[in-house]
Amino acid sequence: MSFIIEWFNRLFKKTRMQNIILFGPPGSGKGTQATRLVEKYKFVHLSTGDLLRSERKRETKLGIEAQKFMVKGELVPDSVVIGMIESAVQEAGDVTGFIFDGYPRTVPQAEALDALLASNEMSIDRVLVLDVNEEESTKRLLDRGKTSNRKDDQDESVIRGRYKVYLDYTVEVAGYYEPKGIVVNIPGEGAIEEITELLASEIEAIA
Ligand code: AP5
Repeated sequence: MSFIIEWFNRLFKKTRMQNIILFGPPGSGKGTQATRLVEKYKFVHLSTGDLLRSERKRETKLGIEAQKFMVKGELVPDSVVIGMIESAVQEAGDVTGFIFDGYPRTVPQAEALDALLASNEMSIDRVLVLDVNEEESTKRLLDRGKTSNRKDDQDESVIRGRYKVYLDYTVEVAGYYEPKGIVVNIPGEGAIEEITELLASEIEAIA
């Protein structure tokens, strides 16, 4: 029976593919929730923050350059992240769908993502916005900063600066997708498991 379901799934893969943007301010739980949704739905998780940190760890030219922006909580230039995502999508090949985490963060990034997906006969199905206020975001990231080695989590002014960058440059990305009727706000404060359930029910409601 499972063989038949698998065969059916493969046959109709193109129509079943779902691409989700997990959206929200720093510390809203995008990475936490993406990991849980990947387990459940086998999506490919693409986080520009993780990709940039991996470049930095390998001390590539891109990583060293990006680090200068990241420690200050500023956005890395569009040209850098757009190119990075294009390569990651092409390298992923034939997949069930993507969860974009922390991307797009500017309207030019959103336009570039739409063009990239369209050229591969794909599109964004949902933009799931995790709503978390600045105080909760700051508290979570300061807590994480005590044990992680993320420099951008260790200075309250940098954390608050990241929240401001979100308000100044990233919130308008949700406005960009609004006319398509695919933006859904989800309360991002509360139990992690309950938030996953809310996200999952939105994903399962996609036709
Ligand atoms: P990035 O790595 O994307 O960081 P961020 O969005 O600022 O925030 P986080 O990833 O830290 O938060 P999150 O929402 O994923 O929450 P998480 O699940 O980790 O970006 C870092 C930098 O890279 C940027 O500042 C920029 O410089 C650069 N960059 C990245 N993408 C870019 C782009 N597209 N364009 C330009 N520049 C870019 O959770 C946070 C903490 O909260 C964890 O400790 C977690 O355990 C906890 N937590 C999660 N959920 C809950 C809950 N429900 N209750 C309590 N605690 C919770």
